[in-house]
Amino acid sequence: MTFGLTPEQEALREKARDLAERVVAPRAAEVDRTESYPWDNVQALTDAGFMGMTVPKAYGGPGRSYMDVTLVIEEMAAQCGVTGRVVVEGNMGAISAVMQYGTEPQKKRAAEFVLSGDKPAICITEPDAGSAATEMTTRADKRGNTYVLNGKKHWITGGGVSRLHLIFARVFDESGAEQGIGGFLAFRGEDDGLVIGAREPTMGLRGIPETEVLFQDLALPADRLVMPPSGLKRGFADLMNAYNAQRVGAGTVALGLAEGAYRRALAFSKEREQFGRPIAEFQGLQWMLADMSVQLEAARALIWRAASTAGQNGNPFPDSLAAAQSKIFASEMAIKVASDALQVHGARGYSRNWPMERILRDARMFTIGGGTAQILRTVVASRLLDRKLPQTRDGHAKLAAADALRIQAAE
Ligand code: FAD
Ligand code: COA
Repeated sequence: MTFGLTPEQEALREKARDLAERVVAPRAAEVDRTESYPWDNVQALTDAGFMGMTVPKAYGGPGRSYMDVTLVIEEMAAQCGVTGRVVVEGNMGAISAVMQYGTEPQKKRAAEFVLSGDKPAICITEPDAGSAATEMTTRADKRGNTYVLNGKKHWITGGGVSRLHLIFARVFDESGAEQGIGGFLAFRGEDDGLVIGAREPTMGLRGIPETEVLFQDLALPADRLVMPPSGLKRGFADLMNAYNAQRVGAGTVALGLAEGAYRRALAFSKEREQFGRPIAEFQGLQWMLADMSVQLEAARALIWRAASTAGQNGNPFPDSLAAAQSKIFASEMAIKVASDALQVHGARGYSRNWPMERILRDARMFTIGGGTAQILRTVVASRLLDRKLPQTRDGHAKLAAADALRIQAAE
């Protein structure tokens, strides 16, 4: 077993760090303050080849691994969480699903979009179907050679800036019979009926809009359905399998934010003097810094491991267990490390003139978006115990059925 990066990966990380420090870092505070999408950074990412890194060579990309992408995400997020998230969605999630499951024309089109800088939007969550994503009510009704979509998603990252959308919807055939859950490609600006709704006033990561996305008789040609390999009946499972890549990516943004906070705390502790010495001389802070470094290394190891499971056991995506484990740890670690790093800065950490409060606000997101820490623990426990758990739909249904039988027998 080799543990560590190849020389090529070291060079990739160096290139990403250089771009992040030179171009992305100086703009991070402004992106947060103005709550505006960092189009300049996106252009720089595109020019550097950091959008569409996972697109295979046959479709014009470099065909890099998820592991390679994590190296770029971490460096970007260490300077600007928003830019880190652009790299996630430019390489994982919707684009992963299309490049794996799509038809040739779908793959070609999606590849063109991300390689030219479009960060796709993935539309899963609905007001009444958050963690319980399988309860989504957005529907796609087959009408001849089109599907007509109606419904509403919310908290869609990139609403109003993304062009390519992958929409999870319940599919019904012409007779009205439900077929399962499928993914549909729609393009903002091209498909009438794809409507961007209200924007959320978010705590952090303010440079990417989180919006409602509404489908109002959105008529899509039938060939926009991205058919999951096991068919629509198991469509949700296949789509979520692809989504595991994005979970690793989200964990990596958390890691990068924490790494950025730690680097700043370490540097500040050597510069700031109190009691006639740099504050780094105080054991109370030394141990905080030591703990931060341990937590960061552990999170990085889990993330690299999760990313490296892609391609194993015939699964092109990261394993759901490893992805969930890494995101739980990295997201919770980032909140603690960002908070401790802010503490090292004293009052300066609490000022909006310094980056620490922004980093902490940004880091707070990752135990929620992309599957909450509670849901991911359920995913982990379910895999460990190899069964559906009572707190999930099927587990709950089985318990309810067993209860009904018991009551019937007692009567
Ligand atoms: P709920 O499901 O209502 O959960 C509320 C609380 O109950 C949570 O603490 C949860 O952990 C807990 N809970 C729920 N069920 C259980 C259970 N069975 N066991 C234990 N605890 C439980 N969605 C998209 O589709 N696309 C996006 O691009 C996207 N981007 C996002 C970006 C941000 C910044 C955020 C914050 C969210 C984003 N989301 C996106 C939505 C996100 O995936 C959901 O917020 C998440 O899945 C949780 O759903 P919810 O907010 O409705 O919480
Ligand atoms: N990777 C691979 N397969 C997955 C998966 C994943 N991450 N999540 C679910 N599946 C599969 C399940 O194994 C199951 O297949 P099975 O019937 O062969 O066991 C199928 O999809 C349905 O999942 P199940 O766990 O039975 O669904 P549920 O109705 O109990 O709901 C989830 C649980 C999956 C919705 C919940 O665990 C979840 O992930 N919620 C968060 C949603 C989310 O991350 N949103 C992010 C939006 S950006």
